[in-house]
Amino acid sequence: MNLSELEKDVISLCEEVGEFMSKESENFDLSKIEQKGSFSNLVSYVDKESEKRLVARLSKLLPGSGFLAEEGTETKGTNAYRWIIDPLDGTTNYLHGLPIYAISIGLQQNDKTVLGIVYDVSHKDCYHAIENNPAYCNQKEIRISPINKLEESLLATGFPYYHLDKRENYLEIIKIFLEKTHGIRRLGSAAMDLAYVACGKLEGFFEYNLSPWDVAGGTFIVQQAGGIVTDFKGGENFLHGGELCAGGKVHAEMLQLIQKHWS
Ligand code: IPD
Ligand code: CA
Ligand code: CA
Repeated sequence: MNLSELEKDVISLCEEVGEFMSKESENFDLSKIEQKGSFSNLVSYVDKESEKRLVARLSKLLPGSGFLAEEGTETKGTNAYRWIIDPLDGTTNYLHGLPIYAISIGLQQNDKTVLGIVYDVSHKDCYHAIENNPAYCNQKEIRISPINKLEESLLATGFPYYHLDKRENYLEIIKIFLEKTHGIRRLGSAAMDLAYVACGKLEGFFEYNLSPWDVAGGTFIVQQAGGIVTDFKGGENFLHGGELCAGGKVHAEMLQLIQKHWS
């Protein structure tokens, strides 16, 4: 299988599905929002239809591959490959008309990620990487930020919807980062947070309670851009473990601080 050819096809697919999302956003109104379980966990026909289109085409591009996607597609597949997809990461932004959202796609071969794509729909920017190669934004190679001090860093995080019992510890961590950095952003799309770490616009990103589809594509792009991604223990269980710390040269400093206040 030629990964580089596959990557080109997947990028075209993202552009096509992104076009659909942009077009739908022009006529979107709040009556089209649905709730998934809780009032703050939102979804729409755009998320579902985008997933359908992505899965249909990826199944043709790589026949026999399995899927794990946010809006319910979960299949085992008959070969070594599995796509991990969030058709629309940043749903709440999208539904409110905030232009920060992305298509997030990771491809695993025997549980190891070999391709990652984060497509920033509003800017039509595609962040992408395949194994043994650098990361790119469109045609341009990207690298993590050269900044190596927390006090010169801009970070991003998210405010989790669940497991609020951990909220106090989390807020404590945020408070300390606020005092020690140039600032913290909450963009509302974990895939975009990771893309910005990969290209050095942000020095780091941390969040808990994320799902594999939020981060499969973006974490791989950060790694191929020279960054480090771990769980809060410093281990590798960031895809399924719900804890994620991604960074460039300030990763170690971030992790040390998180560990001090996380139980
Ligand atoms: C969400 C976004 C957000 C993060 C949430 C995710 P969704 O994904 O990535 O930044 O804080 O935890 O669920 O629901 O917009 O696909
Ligand atoms: Ca998501
Ligand atoms: Ca989503």
